[in-house]
Amino acid sequence: MENFIVSARKYRPQEFDTVVGQSHVTDTLEHAIENSQLAQALLFCGPRGVGKTTCARILARKINEKDGSTSEDGFAYNIFELDAASNNSVDDIRDLTDQVRFAPQVGKYKIYIIDEVHMLSTAAFNAFLKTLEEPPAHAIFILATTEKHKIIPTILSRCQIYDFKRITIEDIQEHLRKIAEKEGVNYEDDALFLIAQKADGALRDALSIFDRLTTFTQKNITLAKAAEVLNILDYDQYLKIVDLAKENNIPGILTAFNDIVKKGFDPHLFIGGLGSHFRDLMMAQNASTLALIEVGENTKQKFSEQSKNWSAQQLIDAIEICNHADINYKNSKNPRLTVEIALMQLASLTAAKSDDKKKSS
Ligand SMILES: Nc1ncnc2c1ncn2[C@@H]1O[C@H](COP(=O)(O)OP(=O)(O)OP(=O)(O)O)[C@@H](O)[C@H]1O
Ligand SMILES: [Mg+2]
Repeated sequence: MENFIVSARKYRPQEFDTVVGQSHVTDTLEHAIENSQLAQALLFCGPRGVGKTTCARILARKINEKDGSTSEDGFAYNIFELDAASNNSVDDIRDLTDQVRFAPQVGKYKIYIIDEVHMLSTAAFNAFLKTLEEPPAHAIFILATTEKHKIIPTILSRCQIYDFKRITIEDIQEHLRKIAEKEGVNYEDDALFLIAQKADGALRDALSIFDRLTTFTQKNITLAKAAEVLNILDYDQYLKIVDLAKENNIPGILTAFNDIVKKGFDPHLFIGGLGSHFRDLMMAQNASTLALIEVGENTKQKFSEQSKNWSAQQLIDAIEICNHADINYKNSKNPRLTVEIALMQLASLTAAKSDDKKKSS
């Protein structure tokens, strides 16, 4: 059997220009190397899975390549990597600082990558600080962390700081498209959007969800399957509920809700999601707010169509009904009923004539 390599590893960028969404960092680093203006201590911070370790490794390799201390097969002699998550004691740091003193045998620089640097113990931090205060001319430190606020100010002030960003949904989606094509995976574009949305800015998370779905769907990722695996109620369900509300079909809407609950979805999440759906319909009514909807293009089109069946005032009322149920859900003795009442109200919205304010029936 062929060894399966997870996409996050298989597609770790080897060059700055294939790093997604961090050009404010990679361009600066590229220039700094070209002009030999690199600081001796750099700190890469930002959320998880956005390319910090990847960029630290690329940078280290580039520095080595420039000063000629890379062998022909690309092996770099002068790069040392310490994972502070598992080597966080004073002794670990002492081992490292002892090494730092010696000049490299080949080339000009020794590069030390200290990953997850916020995990160092206080004593280790302090031991490291001495080296960082007066590093030998041949030493370059690249520190990486997700928790900048845990780094003591004395270290922060000695580092050139690079802030990595969360990757946008569009950038993640585009990256997934490329990988899907390389891997021969069929996909619905809106499914990739959903994955990207769920990854919440972390490309690594997006890739691991993608792998999971690739296996689960046998290389045919549809929106419905993605929603199922991610345990998200897919947009079609909300579209259907809203159509039933528009038709004033109370039995239909209650049955549809029952089906959703039977599938194991949390009614509280459902009513919150329905509120968001009505909000999206509101946004879809106007070209200037269309961009505020975070869904794929096909889905956006469906939202646009559906929004035409509702007046702005009806949508506002619908959002309020959902919001009310959402707020009351936790305090209700019968939360399911809270949602059902909301659904019945929604299914009555378009029935009431605008001049008939009677709340009866
Ligand atoms: N900006 C990016 N461009 C391309 N691929 C990326 C990017 N960020 C993350 N990845 C993918 O995710 C994997 C993990 O990225 P990396 O280890 O660099 O993240 P990190 O920021 O160091 O995360 P952590 O804080 O969890 O250590 C990479 O191997 C790569 O496949
Ligand atoms: Mg990392």
